[in-house]
Amino acid sequence: MKKWVTDKDSKGYYWPSEEAKSYAWVKDEKIYEEAAKDPIAFWDKKAREGISWFKPWKKTYLWKPPYYKWFIGGKLNVCYNCVDRHVESGKGKKPAIIWIPEPMNEEKKVLTFEELHKEVQKFANVLKELGVKKGDRVTIYLPMIPEAQIAMLACARIGAIHSVVFSAFSPESLRARIDDAKSKVLITSDGYYRRGKIVELKKNADEAVSGKSPIKKVIVVKRAGNQVEMKKKRDFWWHELMAKAKEKCAPAKLDSEQPLFILYTSGTTGKPKGVIHVNGGYIVMAYWTSKYVFDLHDEDIFWCTADIGWVTGHTYNCYGILATGSTLLFYEGTPDFPDKDRWWKIVEENKVTIFYTAPTAIRMCAQWGSEWPAKHDLSSLRLLGTVGEPIDQQAWSWYFENIGGSRCPIVDTWWQTETGATLITTLPGVGPFIPTVAGRTFPGVTADIVDAEKNSVSGDMGGYLVLKSPFPPSLLRGLWKAEKKYIETYWLSYDKEFYSTNDGARRVDNKYIRITGRVDDVMNVSGHRISTAEIENAIASHKNVAECAVVSQPHPIKGEAPFAFVVLKEAQPSEQLKNELFETVRVKIGPIAKPEVIAFADALPKTRSGKIMRRMLRALVTNQPIGDTTTLLNPESIEQLKKVVGYKG
Ligand code: WT7
Repeated sequence: MKKWVTDKDSKGYYWPSEEAKSYAWVKDEKIYEEAAKDPIAFWDKKAREGISWFKPWKKTYLWKPPYYKWFIGGKLNVCYNCVDRHVESGKGKKPAIIWIPEPMNEEKKVLTFEELHKEVQKFANVLKELGVKKGDRVTIYLPMIPEAQIAMLACARIGAIHSVVFSAFSPESLRARIDDAKSKVLITSDGYYRRGKIVELKKNADEAVSGKSPIKKVIVVKRAGNQVEMKKKRDFWWHELMAKAKEKCAPAKLDSEQPLFILYTSGTTGKPKGVIHVNGGYIVMAYWTSKYVFDLHDEDIFWCTADIGWVTGHTYNCYGILATGSTLLFYEGTPDFPDKDRWWKIVEENKVTIFYTAPTAIRMCAQWGSEWPAKHDLSSLRLLGTVGEPIDQQAWSWYFENIGGSRCPIVDTWWQTETGATLITTLPGVGPFIPTVAGRTFPGVTADIVDAEKNSVSGDMGGYLVLKSPFPPSLLRGLWKAEKKYIETYWLSYDKEFYSTNDGARRVDNKYIRITGRVDDVMNVSGHRISTAEIENAIASHKNVAECAVVSQPHPIKGEAPFAFVVLKEAQPSEQLKNELFETVRVKIGPIAKPEVIAFADALPKTRSGKIMRRMLRALVTNQPIGDTTTLLNPESIEQLKKVVGYKG
């Protein structure tokens, strides 16, 4: 059996084996040096080499703080790059998407590039027929079925801007995202399978567009066959529209800087932000990171477990992987249905070569026990990846040994919804793979670790992770209708000179970057990004709540979990009230945001200016020193809270 990494060296690092090096696209550090010398020239060359353009650009990069553009004047079509060109080059019969339904008695479905080409053109015509034009927004609220990629690619084909909303988000969250983007069309399904049960998605969609809504048309995919209500003139079945659709639709020639999609993500306030990505820069980096980080070759079967509703799903379950002409596997269900070895069964049966998931999922699998993967032959695997949060040593080792059979490297990929593609990782042919360390900036990416005064920190001192100009081509181009927020969130800390990632980091060996976590009020619950303010708003909407504060608490599986302190109005604390509050969060945001603990308090610790001291609340729930409480308006509140949380100090 091929071994893709060496044994651990004296420092505990792993290196690519000779075999891995000779196979890899990138075998040594030369590319890093070349790119660092002139990142703009590097991206100029890579953009031409990897992506097909209808018209070349006049200027490669423009930087007017805090805005930048790439490949200015260039024209392209992302859908053409993901689909048509592979058909034209003779790869039409190659599988593009292997779809695995959750129910065991259903057959998998394979969509070749040729078939995908047909479906995408037809659906693009469906959208046009319904009046969707270039620049219009289309909200996609779909489960993990290939219609999700078809819908996204069809939007890209005609220049409509999609906004995909995670299918587990509540109707209220969906409504907020629809209203903010002013989407005309919503694409959803009747339902989908989740641990053997049908989730009635159309019901949620109906609730989200009831009353006043910008949505004029709803397209419904028949997936689970559950009963749904179809509103006349508003709701249409996907298959009926497709049966009537014209076959050919030429890809629109779109401007490099024209938006490709909006994706809502949590910021430090209660309101989700619509991160904007544009055609040119995004697809260039989606392509190159897919090819180099996952070292994609023609024979690979790539599987990313992320939901299509997150940026990972966009870039590595659709655009980046398809742009390289690789086959991706797409699974509808959960890892534990019908049993805890479902993922490993899928790897074995489909000979998956590259597997990409999140630390929280790895910790969950580790907790279920190594007997589950041990039941299966995982020897097809060559490369493993993680994303979403820092990976701890234990989870890393479990993954490396039990899934990778100590043969496969792990690429720990750091990036954000805002960056669109991986920016920090270790390339599989270069190494070293250091547990808990993401690695180096991807060639052509300029990052630094700085203190609050913009000085680079030296050695292994921790600091703030920032990006410097030239900014990565795939970095966000703004927040949908929230310019002030864009500037405040990413540019104010460093006088519009650096982009703030809002993550902390430190260097290892002066070269490799370890991410230490968020430095703002954003939590990472099971790899899902949630702001404390969002949960606070939801809880505070309950009639009995006077005020509340949510902080993050370490959690063995989820990484972090929300801990809510609640002060009531007149009401008495009770289990029933607690359940109502849990339910409020579930309904307002979705099950992922549900607090681990709700603790009732008499008062919250406050500064004299009335600000809640979340830092002290965090110390309380993590048993850390609380610090000086004498400057508080109400120091006695801390004593009561110590009892409430069982603080041991
Ligand atoms: C935040 C972004 C990128 C897709 C999934 C999450 C954290 C992400 C890593 C990693 C340590 C990581 C950061 C980042 N994060 N990847 N490999 N190591 N932390 O996207 O929801 O926009 O969250 O996730 O804190 O800022 P997102």
